[in-house]
Amino acid sequence: MMITSTTKLVGLLGHPVGHSFSPLMHNAAFAEKGLPFAYAAFDVDPARIGEAIAGIRALGLRGVNVTIPHKVAVMPYLDEIDPLAAQIGAVNTIVNEQDKLIGYNTDGPGYVRSLTEETGINLQGQTVTIVGAGGAARAVAFSLAKQQVKEIRLINRSRAKAEELAEQLSAILPAVVVEAEQSKEAIANSGLLINTTSVGMYPNVADTPIAAEWLHRDLIVSDLIYNPFKTRLLALAEENGATAHSGFGMFINQGALAFELWTGLDAPAELMRKTVLDALR
Ligand code: ATR
Repeated sequence: MMITSTTKLVGLLGHPVGHSFSPLMHNAAFAEKGLPFAYAAFDVDPARIGEAIAGIRALGLRGVNVTIPHKVAVMPYLDEIDPLAAQIGAVNTIVNEQDKLIGYNTDGPGYVRSLTEETGINLQGQTVTIVGAGGAARAVAFSLAKQQVKEIRLINRSRAKAEELAEQLSAILPAVVVEAEQSKEAIANSGLLINTTSVGMYPNVADTPIAAEWLHRDLIVSDLIYNPFKTRLLALAEENGATAHSGFGMFINQGALAFELWTGLDAPAELMRKTVLDALR
């Protein structure tokens, strides 16, 4: 679709943004649906994030995605924060409703949609072990809590951060911090194990956050990393009879949910998936 005088503009606020697949993914989706939208990437200096948000209002953008390092910093500039985004403490999608800017988080819901669609898991009553306690862990943990999982166990390098997240989660469901020596036991009777750290991400593809001996066949192992598509952790999961779930679907679905917030229409998720996969190859 040509850009015209009535095109609605959306985009990405990040730093850097040059390697993002979001413009490609969203523009393909808009074209597929014949929508008069265009998606651009904006590399915003952290010192100028307030100006960038003011720019959304001044220029009348329909909305933006927000990525590293701005997901927390944008929050004070918004008019409303969706309750889940408030719990998570980070915004990855902004919608401009007639100059009212509303912040959402589609990372966690995108993860849940990807996981349930791709593995068929019934989350209700699950015991879940999460590796990591940063922003991605928060998005996943609070979104899983909404799906009535039974208990969340946190394994993290630094204990303090895990303690803080466990304490916040405890208001909603049983949440505990696992000592490093207890990791094997914690995983042994979990049904879902999720890596939210960057351990195993390109170029450190030989690294794994979890030892092979701790994996088992009754486990679904999720890795939020999507480069590489199959991390060492996921390869070890398959070798040990577990089900492997890649972070690729989370990326696609956080985008699909943002598309739905901006356009009010179902996203062409399959087309989005294919478009990004082709670009990665
Ligand atoms: P994100 O938004 O991607 O979650 P983050 O908020 O910086 O990023 O959190 C990164 C998480 O991965 C943290 O839990 C971090 O552990 P610490 O709390 O101890 O810093 C974890 N992490 C990152 N690199 C790691 C590594 N090499 N080994 C173990 N944990 C790591």
